[in-house]
Amino acid sequence: VREELGTLHGIPLYKWFIQGWPQVESFKARPDDLLICTYPKSGTTWLSEILDMIYHDGDVEKCKRDAIFNRVPFLEMNAPDMQNGVELLTKMPSPRLVKTHLPIQLLPVSFWDQDCKVIYVARNPKDVAVSYYYFYQMAKMHPDPGTMEDFLQNFMAGKVAYGSWYTHVKDWWEKRKEKRVLYLFYEDMKQDPRRELQKIIQFLGKEVAESTVAKIIHHTSFQEMRKNPAANYETLPSWVMDHSLSPFLRKGIAGDWKNHFTVAQNERFDKHYKKQMEGSDLCFRMEI
Ligand code: A3P
Repeated sequence: VREELGTLHGIPLYKWFIQGWPQVESFKARPDDLLICTYPKSGTTWLSEILDMIYHDGDVEKCKRDAIFNRVPFLEMNAPDMQNGVELLTKMPSPRLVKTHLPIQLLPVSFWDQDCKVIYVARNPKDVAVSYYYFYQMAKMHPDPGTMEDFLQNFMAGKVAYGSWYTHVKDWWEKRKEKRVLYLFYEDMKQDPRRELQKIIQFLGKEVAESTVAKIIHHTSFQEMRKNPAANYETLPSWVMDHSLSPFLRKGIAGDWKNHFTVAQNERFDKHYKKQMEGSDLCFRMEI
């Protein structure tokens, strides 16, 4: 099922998603939708599980009612034998949690028209690149990633699904100044999950009991999510995701790039990063 990527308004994307695009573009958001937006491999599933837990008052059993991709539908998902994102969302009662990886210019306008709240998670690009490389291998809708060297070149050039990481994180960072966007960092969530959870709860305007907070932190830890079939994507057939090549919940740490980048690759990456992020006050921690 591996296929080369197509291009949607200049952004490299899966051809099936491009085919389903008219439906996504005209998606009707509801005012109480909460949008989870990320560049791929930045902690989307983690944040989705946290939010579903908050929405269900920390009820672990309720959060095992279905796989994460059905509890938090993936807006632009369109592929054979997979639930279509827009269709799934259309039948879903409010309040809905919606997942997307879309760069800002492709987000359906109705999210802005309805003034929906957005939570964005960003992760340092070195770990994103490594995580994406393994994801390309296990998730079969991707083209063959080649070697790590090949993949890093493509990642830096924005020639991967969803395009340039640099543009994605910077554009959403700017948007938070004018819209209801909570901008989080994966590294902060790793370092202090409680503090970041409190930020989320506050942003949602909810009251959550301390015992529930503790339950949410425990249930959404990497170790718990990894063994939870409702969160680890293992219910998908192996022709879609082959966990024997690399598990979806792979390592879940900050700084794994140090086990993969050569010194030369790291120097090249740093130089390119500096240039791409010039003029932006957005900062990343490459390790914690
Ligand atoms: P690694 O490949 O580095 O392990 P996404 O959900 O956006 O596709 O991101 C997947 C990445 O988030 C994977 O990174 C995965 O292991 C990590 N992840 C998922 N759940 C996590 C959790 N509870 N804690 C820490 N990392 C988590």
